[in-house]
Amino acid sequence: MTQTHASSSLLFALRQRLYRLWAAIARPIFRSLPIATPEVLSGDQSLDSAIARLAESGYRRPVVITDNVFVTLPVFGRLIDALERYQLTYSVFSDIVPDPDFTLIEAGISHCRQHQFDSVIAIGGGSSIDATKVINGCAHNQINPRKIVGLLKLRKKGAFFVAIPTTAGTGSEATAAAVITDEQSHQKKVVVSLSVVPDLAVLDASLMMGLPPAITAATGMDALTHAMESYLSRFATAETDAMNLASIKRIFTYLPRAFSQGQHDVEARQEMALASHQAGVTFTRTSVGWVHAIAHQLGARYGVPHGLANAMVLPHVLAFYLPFASARMAQMADAIGIEGDSDQHKAEALVNAVTELCQTLAITPELTMLKEADLESMSDNIISETYRSPYPVPGYFDSQGQLQQFLRGMMA
Ligand SMILES: [Fe+2]
Repeated sequence: MTQTHASSSLLFALRQRLYRLWAAIARPIFRSLPIATPEVLSGDQSLDSAIARLAESGYRRPVVITDNVFVTLPVFGRLIDALERYQLTYSVFSDIVPDPDFTLIEAGISHCRQHQFDSVIAIGGGSSIDATKVINGCAHNQINPRKIVGLLKLRKKGAFFVAIPTTAGTGSEATAAAVITDEQSHQKKVVVSLSVVPDLAVLDASLMMGLPPAITAATGMDALTHAMESYLSRFATAETDAMNLASIKRIFTYLPRAFSQGQHDVEARQEMALASHQAGVTFTRTSVGWVHAIAHQLGARYGVPHGLANAMVLPHVLAFYLPFASARMAQMADAIGIEGDSDQHKAEALVNAVTELCQTLAITPELTMLKEADLESMSDNIISETYRSPYPVPGYFDSQGQLQQFLRGMMA
């Protein structure tokens, strides 16, 4: 062993030991922290009920924040009709794009201030809701958005916030986090603050009926990844366990239906909206794990959409967890009706069930885009994200080399 290799192995072991120590100390604190959750309105009347609630509460000047595709869809007309019915002086900011950056956030802040807004309505996918969290908090409190990057930097709440997801996946309408792209450093910046959790979440399946099958599949697998990583987190509680098992059961039952007949299967869409929301609530408390850390690298380097990246990585990470978490994995297997004569067998069957679900959804869990030359810096970033975030994962890689070998194994 060379001296350099020996010292880097030593450093790796030291980082892991420090991380494990942190996780042990933080566990009781995180498990007892109060977590803000939005009030939920669900069903096909919930969009109208939310606008009624806004008007009855005395809000008069909402800003609708969305993307320029959503404003062209018939369902957007339903929102506008409701706003006009209640005679609200609304304004629309429809510039949201995937992976919103700080320039876009600044434009949204200016828009809200010029309108003298007293409330916000985010409608769309995770990017619209994430961007609104930051725009609202900064516009209402007159703060530079770059100043609130990190953990609990924003202490004050924004204006009254209605979040209306149109995909069933990110759970952003329930979470205390927002991801913004820094166009200067080309890095993703995460804002985590209990103050950004929306006040009202609207789970209305009728807004999701036109979602194409591929997006339904990818976003649904993002929700499954949240629920499974949350269930395997060291910060899981009895409450998050119950919600995650319910979410996992819903996704295995309804995601194939939402994928294959989502144009007219309202029940499947509504159940997926609820499953995604439940997983959003739970991972706000428990955080996520290796799947997300690896998926973020696939997104940053190769542009793989978040949900699809999670779907491709999830079966591999579950297989890696077998020696560490077979009992917990067996409990997830029980939730979806898998039978077996031992925890190990059930846990192995769970990995197969996730792989089969991917196949049903036409997702191939083979990472053909991975390049050997990228593995070293990727593994470095994956370890850093996991330890710094920090993600309370149930199992560890012994060395950076082992993680690189794991990534190599996903290529085939
Ligand atoms: Fe996610």
